[in-house]
Amino acid sequence: MVRIRNYREDDNLKWVRCRVLSFLDTAYYDDVLKEKQHYKNSSIELVAEIDDKIVGLMDTEYEIEKGAVCYKSNELGAVIWHLAVLPEYRNKGISTALLNQTINILKGKDIKVLQAWTRDDIWVNDWYKKRGFNWRESYLHVYKNRKDCDEFVQTKVENVVICSCFAHYVGTNKEEIKDTFERVHECNLYELTI
Ligand SMILES: CC(C)(COP(=O)(O)OP(=O)(O)OC[C@H]1O[C@@H](n2cnc3c(N)ncnc32)[C@H](O)[C@@H]1OP(=O)(O)O)[C@@H](O)C(=O)NCCC(=O)NCCS
Repeated sequence: MVRIRNYREDDNLKWVRCRVLSFLDTAYYDDVLKEKQHYKNSSIELVAEIDDKIVGLMDTEYEIEKGAVCYKSNELGAVIWHLAVLPEYRNKGISTALLNQTINILKGKDIKVLQAWTRDDIWVNDWYKKRGFNWRESYLHVYKNRKDCDEFVQTKVENVVICSCFAHYVGTNKEEIKDTFERVHECNLYELTI
């Protein structure tokens, strides 16, 4: 049976493994952490455990002062920084249970808005929408590899060759950027009123 509980320091390795394996089939496939992230502000860090194995995780950082964590919000808010469930444990309601528990805790702290950023995996976007999140805006995550990087950016250091680049595009010519660069992700902001 699945148990939702708070993250403990000795979960670090299991947490990192759950996260990396859960991201392999997503647009975040190469976003690898070697250690769990910790937060400057208060946070809710939950794991879903089955038989001593971490199969899901959710980290949410929340504000005591407006604007400390959220992007452009007039309300006291929180941001989901990590949400993941191992592929073989999906569609069993584990993420929904993690989200519901997080929302209950946030309500007790007078938080009114929950934000989440996610790339362009349709099923992940649908997951947020079906749980009442509204799409607010997006910008682009842009990657370029190998020698054609120098069309994009130039080094000021002699004999240094840039082999890969990662950039944010926040302008309005999104289609042109998508046509120009080999790997581009829409990074979407969702918001739930709680
Ligand atoms: C999105 C994610 C967290 C959902 O976890 P989950 O525990 O399977 O979600 P739940 O069981 O609570 O909800 C299942 C719903 O998600 C959908 N879903 C989950 N995985 C899916 C997949 N691989 N393909 C299509 N739909 C999927 C189901 O169709 C179901 O829809 P429903 O609401 O109509 O029933 C999980 O798929 C995941 O870990 N994705 C990869 C990590 C990721 O992208 N995280 C977000 C980055 S911000």
